[in-house]
Amino acid sequence: MSGQKIVVLGTGGTIAGTSEQAEDNIGYTAAQVGVAQLLEAVPGLEALAMVLHSEQVAQIDSKDMDGEVWLALARRCAHHIEDPVVRGIIITHGTDTLEETAWFLHQTLNAHKPVVLTCAMRPSTALTPDGPQNLLDAVAVAMTSGASGVLAVAAGEVHGALHVQKVHPYRVHAFTSGDVGPLGFVEEGTLRLTQNWPLALDGKARIAIEKIANADAWPRVEIVISHAGATGAVVDALVRDDVQGLVVACTGNGTMHHALEAALLRAQDAGVKVVRSTRCPEGQVLPKRGDLFPDSRGLSPVKARIALMLDLLNASARK
Ligand code: SIN
Repeated sequence: MSGQKIVVLGTGGTIAGTSEQAEDNIGYTAAQVGVAQLLEAVPGLEALAMVLHSEQVAQIDSKDMDGEVWLALARRCAHHIEDPVVRGIIITHGTDTLEETAWFLHQTLNAHKPVVLTCAMRPSTALTPDGPQNLLDAVAVAMTSGASGVLAVAAGEVHGALHVQKVHPYRVHAFTSGDVGPLGFVEEGTLRLTQNWPLALDGKARIAIEKIANADAWPRVEIVISHAGATGAVVDALVRDDVQGLVVACTGNGTMHHALEAALLRAQDAGVKVVRSTRCPEGQVLPKRGDLFPDSRGLSPVKARIALMLDLLNASARK
């Protein structure tokens, strides 16, 4: 049965959440139901019971996501991707940091097979939970011939790791790929692709998982935001506290309050890596001559933070 197995890795989230009252969509506890039980509860999946293999990698509310879980997840994904009987991987995940995990995995895996993150905005006990349909759609994407890359499937849409972003704290349709739009739509179990599958990173991960595993600690990279009345106090305090990298969620096209800019220049002179992203939810910082700091090349602040951490890890591993 070559290439037929779909591995479902559970990490928790609202998709695995429970509430005491079915009509309560916000007062629930995330990460309560095991991934095997979640799969059993999806009516359309009984026929695939022999194909689906579940593994519980973590059981957390994704607001608490950390490097340890990311490393465990990357290792399990890398293992299964290279198994010839595995056709694709699904990861059940909380919505809150799903885009960060997707970007981390995109950077660390050679995802020549689909790695599909899915989630839910309503707990499994809700009157109309969205998790079962999202799981069904994720399976449809993972089984689609030619599928590859790290993807996110929710509310009938498929997004790539680069652009996916949670933009709503409550509604079921919480994710967008901004002005780029979704990669495709899942309609009655069939994928309608509107863009190409995301490009694999030249067949190689940008950083080897073992380099991350062997590092003493993850580099300290923090995000600061520019806003009316911003000062440099937070930056100065972080530099005193040995921060190694700073991502700035800038106004507009990468601009920042002059007081914050002065502190960031001091930080940069002290050896801290500074990267500019934008706090605008869509679009990206366009570089221009005379920029004092590099831009994040289209990455949102949270994804730019991950990219900078991986750059710093790579650089320290080379020394
Ligand atoms: C979480 O991110 O784990 C909780 C919120 C959610 O999944 O919607």
